[in-house]
Amino acid sequence: MTTVTLNNGVEIPLLGFGTAAIGEWQQDDSYVTETILKAMGVGYRHFDTASVYGNERALGRAIRDSGIPRQELFITSKVWDSEQGAGTRSAFERSLERLQLQYLDLYLIHWPAPAYTRETWEAMEKLYEEKKVRALGLSNFRQSDIEQIATFASVRPTCNQIELHPYLTQKPLVDFCQFHEIAISCWSPLGSGSWSGVAKEDKPVADPVIVELAEKYGVNAGQLILKWDIQQGRIVLPKAESVPNIVANFELYGFELSDEDIEKIDGLNRDHRYGADPDSAYEDNLNVKVPD
Ligand SMILES: NC(=O)c1ccc[n+]([C@@H]2O[C@H](COP(=O)([O-])OP(=O)(O)OC[C@H]3O[C@@H](n4cnc5c(N)ncnc54)[C@H](OP(=O)(O)O)[C@@H]3O)[C@@H](O)[C@H]2O)c1
Repeated sequence: MTTVTLNNGVEIPLLGFGTAAIGEWQQDDSYVTETILKAMGVGYRHFDTASVYGNERALGRAIRDSGIPRQELFITSKVWDSEQGAGTRSAFERSLERLQLQYLDLYLIHWPAPAYTRETWEAMEKLYEEKKVRALGLSNFRQSDIEQIATFASVRPTCNQIELHPYLTQKPLVDFCQFHEIAISCWSPLGSGSWSGVAKEDKPVADPVIVELAEKYGVNAGQLILKWDIQQGRIVLPKAESVPNIVANFELYGFELSDEDIEKIDGLNRDHRYGADPDSAYEDNLNVKVPD
């Protein structure tokens, strides 16, 4: 299985390439473009960006320079907290302009802001009706936020992109989403990039259980974790800058985890977040400006 079909019929590759903080946070230069071009060269076709990452122009240049036909790519972007509500349409148009694209494959509400959700989602529904985006989704939405959307949405959310790795499995939320046919997409699947300031030894890729299982399957720790997700139908968005990691994360076939080993990895959960908590992120997020 290399793709999953969203609840509106659109197919999304299970493996995407995370682009946040390639090099520096909000960096929009040739290093970002070159890194994405390397990933495209390896075979990645699904790229995850956001207006707040400040790298949409760099991704747009990579898309143009790659020569890959647009319909072979799957491009996701997100509306930032300060852009929600009345600003949603113009935020979307700015993202398209920076990416130099005519349409997006997936557009997400980056973080829940319940006071703005209805206005934001209704603006996104119009963009969907106008075929400027192929699928609409959520990010960092809690069960209560999804229940709120369900009270008024005429277009169902197709997915929820949440922090998910062996130390944060979010099982109740995952079960709720899967029951409602909302696909799960995992951010920081390997336990976060350099932006978090967390040392590799403190991430799940260095966990003794993960390292031992990786040895058993003859893969590296990152590959093992990504396979744990993909085998359970979850979309993964690893970020990698080093070529060995870019290549390894693309090679997830030719081995299957046993049910017992999947359970062992599930058992590592400690409800530990490397990123922000949706319960409290909104105020802090408003201090982060979207670059032009
Ligand atoms: N929706 C949201 O709110 C949200 C929030 C955060 C992130 N995201 C998305 O999720 C993506 C991924 O998250 P992330 O960038 O925080 O972290 P991540 O993908 O969990 O981890 C990235 C780190 O893992 C390393 N790595 C990559 N492949 C590896 C492997 N096979 N074995 C061991 N280490 C490996 C990378 O090293 P090198 O770079 O040196 O290769 C990098 O230091 C982001 O880029 C973004 O697209 C979304």
